[in-house]
Amino acid sequence: MATKAKTLWYCTSCGNESPKWMGRCPACGEWNTMVEAPVEAAKSSGGKGSQRAASSDRKPRRLGEIDLSSEPRLVLGVAELDRLLGGGVVPGSLILIGGEPGIGKSTLSLQVPLGCPSLLTLYVTGEESERQVRMRAERLSPGGIPESCLIYCETQIEAVLAQARELKPDLMIVDSVQTMYTDTLDSTPGSVSQIKEVAALLLRFAKDSGVPVILIGHITKDGYIAGPKILEHIVDVVLQFEGENRGSYRLLRSIKNRFGSTSELAVFEMTGKGLREVPNPSEMLIPMHEEGLSGTAISAMLDGTRPLLFEVQALVSSAAYGTAQRSATGFDVRRLNMLLAVLEKRAGFHLSAKDVFLNMAGGLKVSDPACDLAVIAAVLSSNFDYALPLDCCFAGEVGLSGEIRPVGQTDRRIGEAARLGFKKIFVSSYSAQDAPAAAGIKVIKVADVPELVKALFR
Ligand code: TYD
Ligand code: MG
Repeated sequence: MATKAKTLWYCTSCGNESPKWMGRCPACGEWNTMVEAPVEAAKSSGGKGSQRAASSDRKPRRLGEIDLSSEPRLVLGVAELDRLLGGGVVPGSLILIGGEPGIGKSTLSLQVPLGCPSLLTLYVTGEESERQVRMRAERLSPGGIPESCLIYCETQIEAVLAQARELKPDLMIVDSVQTMYTDTLDSTPGSVSQIKEVAALLLRFAKDSGVPVILIGHITKDGYIAGPKILEHIVDVVLQFEGENRGSYRLLRSIKNRFGSTSELAVFEMTGKGLREVPNPSEMLIPMHEEGLSGTAISAMLDGTRPLLFEVQALVSSAAYGTAQRSATGFDVRRLNMLLAVLEKRAGFHLSAKDVFLNMAGGLKVSDPACDLAVIAAVLSSNFDYALPLDCCFAGEVGLSGEIRPVGQTDRRIGEAARLGFKKIFVSSYSAQDAPAAAGIKVIKVADVPELVKALFR
């Protein structure tokens, strides 16, 4: 009697395994993320293999005795990428760059080897032909392609690793994890088990050889296809591309970093010659209009460790239908609803019959609570149809009782605002900051929403 092939269900969001289908993943709480995949006995030394355990000659060592001196970081040619990684690539690390198709992952990962001729780099591609990569490289580096840049078109991971062991490059780039496969599993490339096994093999290669590996992974908008999400706990660093595919700005965010701080942001501009670094993103995210427009306010946000100023745009209009619409791009809609409720209850603005649309400049996704104050200011400005002065900005969190709460590192936000030529910044009166942190900027302290309204629209 033929035995039925055994299958397991995997969550594409967190990688949790389950013997049966479930509507909601019990581990991460996401709905409709379970996909079925056959159980495959990993014939390779896939982690659980007892052979590997027996043949390993490693022993536990004292933590204090581990030598750190031989760990200089590899500095890449792309300065913003180095900064995002915490000052270069750590030898033996596995770095995942994720993003939607067409956002610029292949472009960035090809700019790395082209930008550092002193490093021997192996660029493995399973997506494009050698000619295609050469054509792209010509465009990215019109001055000539460095000798040290090797390209290898292959999708079988064992062949890739064999070449990498022989060549011993300084850096390896694999584009993309979805196209690689191992012969030890029967499933198709891109399936959950293939992706996990390929990543595990690359991780072991990186740790054993000390060669850092940059791995590219596609993420689809709805996230249903097994992809980088299930790899996040395997790899050392996760960098994710954000932003509008159609616009020319691309934001690269660090969402996990074992060797540096997270929630750092690097901004690139897609040009005809590839991605160009934007070292001062505030200058691009704040508007250039001569006169103020109603419905806009500048927020002094902190992204990771870097202060960032950008424009918040709001549109308040009479509800076209019976129920008011609330929509936010780059901002949590529930938080917007909360802020509108605070305005209604604590400051007496009747916004319940108004449509409210909110937009963060440049396709930015914002989670810093310090943006609350700018959101409120933009909403009120649109509501009154009154433009705020161009030289003022905001940094403060709004509490449920309408109080304005202090936010972290206010002095650095003030410093950045002053550097960009702002003359006034509104902060919480509970901030520890006493004197103006930087010359030429007036720090205006407000205690609650009514006080802000008085200060702005008197
Ligand atoms: P790509 O790196 O191929 O995206 P991914 O690997 O994430 O799928 O980038 C694709 C887009 O970038 C493509 O739509 C064209 C654009 N592009 C430029 O505008 N200029 C360039 O120099 C390059 C190489 C690409
Ligand atoms: Mg690509």
